[in-house]
Amino acid sequence: PCTVQDYALIDVDALLDTARPQRAPVDPWKIIQTAWEPLRARYWETVFALSNGLIGLRGCLEERSRALRPFQTPGMYLNGIYGYEAYEHPWYFPGFATRKHAMLNLPDWCIVHIYVNDTHVSVTSSQLQAFRRELDLRDGVLRTFMLWKDRASGVSVRIEIIRLVSMARRHSAAIQFTITPVGGSANVSLRYAVDQHPTTSTLKDQHYLCFRRYQIAPDGFLATCAVNKSEQEFAMAVKYRVNGAPAEALIHSLGENIVDPAWSLTTDVAEATTLTFTVHACFFTCVETPADELMEHAETQVLQDIQDGFPALLREQRAFWRAYWRRADVRIDGHPADQQAVRFSLFHLRQSHPDDPHRSIGANGLTGDHYCGHVFWDTEMYMLPHFLYTEPRLAKSLLMYRYHLLDKARQRAREMDGTGAMYSWNSINGEECGTVFEASTAQYHLQSAIPFAIARYVDATDDAAFLRDYGAEIVFETARYMAGRGAYVPHKGGRFCINAVCGPDEYACGVNNNCYTNMLCQWHLRYAVAVYGWLRKTYPTQWARLTNQLALREDEVRAWQRAADRIYIPFNKRLGIHEQDDTFLSLDPVDMGTVPHFTDIREKLHPLNLWRMQVVKQADVVLLMFVLGDQFSKRVKRANYEFYEPRTCHGSSLSASIHSIVAAEIGKHDDAYTYFRHSAYMDLNDFKNNVAEGVHSACLGGTWMAIVHGFAGMRTYARGLSFAPTLPAAWEGYRFRVVYRGRHLLVDVREGRVRVTLERGAPLRVFVYEKPVQLQRRAPYVGELRG
Ligand code: BGC
Repeated sequence: PCTVQDYALIDVDALLDTARPQRAPVDPWKIIQTAWEPLRARYWETVFALSNGLIGLRGCLEERSRALRPFQTPGMYLNGIYGYEAYEHPWYFPGFATRKHAMLNLPDWCIVHIYVNDTHVSVTSSQLQAFRRELDLRDGVLRTFMLWKDRASGVSVRIEIIRLVSMARRHSAAIQFTITPVGGSANVSLRYAVDQHPTTSTLKDQHYLCFRRYQIAPDGFLATCAVNKSEQEFAMAVKYRVNGAPAEALIHSLGENIVDPAWSLTTDVAEATTLTFTVHACFFTCVETPADELMEHAETQVLQDIQDGFPALLREQRAFWRAYWRRADVRIDGHPADQQAVRFSLFHLRQSHPDDPHRSIGANGLTGDHYCGHVFWDTEMYMLPHFLYTEPRLAKSLLMYRYHLLDKARQRAREMDGTGAMYSWNSINGEECGTVFEASTAQYHLQSAIPFAIARYVDATDDAAFLRDYGAEIVFETARYMAGRGAYVPHKGGRFCINAVCGPDEYACGVNNNCYTNMLCQWHLRYAVAVYGWLRKTYPTQWARLTNQLALREDEVRAWQRAADRIYIPFNKRLGIHEQDDTFLSLDPVDMGTVPHFTDIREKLHPLNLWRMQVVKQADVVLLMFVLGDQFSKRVKRANYEFYEPRTCHGSSLSASIHSIVAAEIGKHDDAYTYFRHSAYMDLNDFKNNVAEGVHSACLGGTWMAIVHGFAGMRTYARGLSFAPTLPAAWEGYRFRVVYRGRHLLVDVREGRVRVTLERGAPLRVFVYEKPVQLQRRAPYVGELRG
């Protein structure tokens, strides 16, 4: 199997020969492709995907043809637009999902073919003299450069294409072509088309998008589309400009055929002059807009965009990203490749955020549909921290998405014969899509992950109103479900046990008392009790209203307390470690040298052979050491890490960052750095050989966590904010900013010293290496670097 055990073992040259992507040339602010290589095209489509959390566009070339088709997967997604298909279970059991929904691939509006003197400009032609694409992380655009030499006339043509999905105008995207002949004039022809038959690879059924209304014009078109089965609608409006102006005279529509609309433009371009062709596209969906207003909104927006012009969109985009980097950049000195990988991660993470309380971030963002656009615990546990500590309102919007799904979660709890609310493991709209129920529905820890994220948010922002109006309801309803999910088991000393679950380690299904699940549930139930008490005391009216509405009585809250106090926590005294679950230590020992790493071995083994192996898919107890880090001594953390790390094959991209964080805390600096690199390069170096299907969004967030929580040791335990920085030997220094309770801090770590500056906000007490430090404006803390 094509797996890599260690980052250091990767032979990049060898990868080049196996159609794996080449390492992008190192550049701190760009990701650069220097040659068209068909076998690597899908990788680049993901790496170059642009998104603003609402619109997602894979970085497919504008050129499409039968010859290129086997190498391309165009993707155009709108967050929240999905199709349904029925599941066929050979044997149906209660609570099984009956249908699946998956993000749809929508009409492809980026198809432009260029002809020079009647010859098609193609990446496959020998007349292409130069080809380069670059994702500019500072400007937030994808640029393509091509130099074409027309063999017959000897004229060269410079082509530049700039593509953006606007972060400032959530409904807008645009592509601009500039075409400049050099050494003579050229006859240039552009043919623009829209593909109305995109394939959604994750759905078998046809999800034909039918047009409710459309208008086709010489300079574009406007349509509302309805999705079969999900009864959703969206509108799209496309308009072109030639040299910045409407060009009815130049463009002509190739028929009134709405099924495959196409337009063409032909003109002579004099030497050293430039033809500019711009496509503006706008999208509105029923998720945020009333159905009868969709078309009108799309039209108004596209008219606004063409009036303001492409340069204005470009300026706004640049301003957005500059502001983002000022606030959220992690600067690494002395290692440009690590710097590039980290910025690449941050860019993709930030652009995936929808900034809309009715939408969240799927496991691949909007860069590919491997995970069908589904949202997992990835969002709360791996992505949310970055948003929370750099732009807290973005964390709130992710939590509001969960709030809006609360009724669906209640319904799911009933389907699973429970009370309260139970969130679906993988879903867009709240309906469970997991069919491998033993590793989806069984991951009950999601029910505590959402309250955990709520608590983190409230801690970091003091947003009591959020907890009062939304958070408390989620916390109570999920606590109710979890309290009902466990039982007091006489054989376990009458302890509260949670049986037949799956923890984060998806290779251990149907286990009893997964330690991570139990301890997080214990934390969750205690938090629910605390929130209940706080609400009653602080907001008695809202408390009365909510508890009435939920029929929540004191005795139920007391039962939560009791379950938390009596919960069973597996611990092995002889080994000094937490057992992952009741049976983990009794499983078949495995020679890890024979187990492929960094790949999901579920695809290679029958479950009955997998479940008896003592192999961990991803950080589980090790994750617990970080998540509830204030409950364990360093000794226990170290013992657990040393026991589980050698038994972990990192079959999930969520594993490396957590190992890096815990390794940093227990002083295993080489491990910390190696695992950081595994995480940071996961997508750029295509560790799992599946980047073609989308970025690993949790891993992107994990990379940020590995620096801030790992190397810098940031924690937010009850006593307040603390740091315990270390500096990887390969770096000269690093710096980043965080926001905590309205304070803006700059943490700067370099050889020999740590500096923490309060840039904005009232004085704050923090801890640096356990020592209390009072931070004041204009009086940075400077101390010695340890570790
Ligand atoms: C991981 C899960 C994760 C999911 C989506 C799986 O491979 O094991 O923890 O939620 O991928 O990223």
